[in-house]
Amino acid sequence: MADDLTSITAAPLVDKFGRSISYLRLSVTDRCDLRCTYCMSERMQFLPKSDLLTLEELDRVANVFIDRGVRKIRITGGEPLVRKDIADLFERLGKRFGSGLDELTLTTNGTMLAKHAEGLYQAGVRRVNVSLDSIIPERFAEITRRGNLQQVMQGIEAALAAGLKIKINTVALKHQNADEIPSMVEWAHGLGMDMTLIEVMPLGETGEDRFDQYLPLPMIRDELDARWTLTPLPKVDANGGPSSYVRIQETGGKLGFITPLTNNFCAGCNRVRVTCTGRIYMCLGQDDHVDLRAALRDTPGDNTALNEALDKALGAKPEKHDFRIERPGAAPALPRHMSTTGG
Ligand code: 5AD
Ligand code: SF4
Repeated sequence: MADDLTSITAAPLVDKFGRSISYLRLSVTDRCDLRCTYCMSERMQFLPKSDLLTLEELDRVANVFIDRGVRKIRITGGEPLVRKDIADLFERLGKRFGSGLDELTLTTNGTMLAKHAEGLYQAGVRRVNVSLDSIIPERFAEITRRGNLQQVMQGIEAALAAGLKIKINTVALKHQNADEIPSMVEWAHGLGMDMTLIEVMPLGETGEDRFDQYLPLPMIRDELDARWTLTPLPKVDANGGPSSYVRIQETGGKLGFITPLTNNFCAGCNRVRVTCTGRIYMCLGQDDHVDLRAALRDTPGDNTALNEALDKALGAKPEKHDFRIERPGAAPALPRHMSTTGG
């Protein structure tokens, strides 16, 4: 626990554009049991395990962020549930409910959710995001290059049964799921799950051409608008999220659109990301980062250096990202994969 460590700079985290940081996305591994075509290559090289923050270090970083005003933490990866000691981390972080932490969540591909659902709920998790790009078994296997849809469906079932609320995150892919989106919306809403559509982002080499995958969401929105009655929802969640939501009258559910390419949403950004190796990235779309690992390891009993590193990082949070997918064969905007930074 970090409570007993000296915290000299416990001031809230505010960047130079006046945005308060209340949301931390913490990646616990870059590894994944799937290989989604838009995310990584078939032969993805993962980091040596010795590069990863230990469970104690992850816990300590998270606690320092909570001490400085972070109220919501999302555990990401890679696939967080492939990390062996992950249940322990949720349990530890859950102890901060009522002393700074309001929400603890998780983004997962769902393959191991059946095993973890109950424990997550016990730790205080109430909502999880499940990434799922197709509900047709053959397509799911193709997009993930190895996944078994049945396993994910069992995970979703177990999570709902445990009392977790689920949001389905779907990356819109021109050739692989564009035609399936209405039926996925019906399926998700039928089970009481919200859904969010995401545009492919140019992060890291995958061995595939993103230009060929990229599907601008305004096109899908127009199509859904012709089929159903969409009512735009006001931005209620003042959590600085990048989604714009609609309610679909016919299905009764909520559908979000995340459009990093067609529409920049950075003005209300309230988040930072920490990678599994302890780098803090102030923006998903920029390469600036500060290494927290040295500050963590050099002074095990004292958070001063860690707090100073956080101040430095915050001072460098850029105003906005600058994603583009302009032409076939273009190099990714950033060499870093989503699975390295944390989705
Ligand atoms: N573009 C858009 N979304 C991506 N994800 C992973 N890589 C990319 C990318 N290049 C998504 C996953 C998951 C979330 C963590 O990020 O599908 O929903
Ligand atoms: Fe794994 Fe998620 Fe990347 Fe797919 S998108 S390979 S599930 S980290």
